Amino acid sequence: MKLVVLTGAGISEESGVPVFRGKEGLWEGVRPEELATPAAFLRDPEKVWRWYCWRREIIARARPNRAHELLAKMEKEHDLWVITQNVDGLHQRAGSRRVIELHGNIWRLRCPSCGKVWEDPGACRSIPPRCPRCGSLARPDVVWFGEALPAEALRRSFELARQADVFVVVGTSGVVQPAADLPFIAKNSGARVIVVNPRRTPHSRIADVFLEEKASTGMEKVYELLQNKGPA
Ligand code: OAD
Ligand code: ZN
Repeated sequence: MKLVVLTGAGISEESGVPVFRGKEGLWEGVRPEELATPAAFLRDPEKVWRWYCWRREIIARARPNRAHELLAKMEKEHDLWVITQNVDGLHQRAGSRRVIELHGNIWRLRCPSCGKVWEDPGACRSIPPRCPRCGSLARPDVVWFGEALPAEALRRSFELARQADVFVVVGTSGVVQPAADLPFIAKNSGARVIVVNPRRTPHSRIADVFLEEKASTGMEKVYELLQNKGPA
């Protein structure tokens, strides 16, 4: 049985990492095009970096929660892949190894000039940071609005969605493409779909099982469900 799990910001909410949309979301009162676009970075790289450094601080203090831990545990017991839209690295810190990052990683930097990609937890000591190879301004290695997703990660995600026997969707609002398409592709390819979210989303409509609750308790139920008899 092939299990594929798509995660979004909601899975890290109980770790204290703010989600993007909704009352206390990161996008509330912020225009994404002022921060998370290539144009914004050209206009004011320091402002963009200040926002990412603030998020890095929150993520550095955060710990993986029960939902992340359960996924790491399930990877040892099932043929399981995690496809995440999150840039926080909490899946890997919980022990997951089969993780596909669709939107990049906040701990990595990338040089737009020479293409160097590297990790630097101390990048915020002096912002905006520069490329150690060519001296150009470095950017966070994350996907911004209007940018393409990493091609191989995307190809692999579509492939996994088509192959999945069970496709679990945890903590995503399902409004950002192309990630939001993956559950539909899985469903159309015959997968059973399980959705964990305290609110209804475009995915809850196609769910075979909709667990209308937070990620930690919802994932406990998913774990039990798959342990016993499958999601039917
Ligand atoms: P959103 O902020 O759009 O949605 C978060 C979802 O998590 C909502 O559906 C909430 O109901 C749900 N949620 C909140 N608390 C939860 C909890 N404790 N347990 C489970 N679910 C909970 O975040 P994403 O769907 O991840 O992209 O957003 C997708 C993309 O939009 C992000 O990757 C980011 C953003 O713009 C880029 O920056 C490219
Ligand atoms: Zn460079």
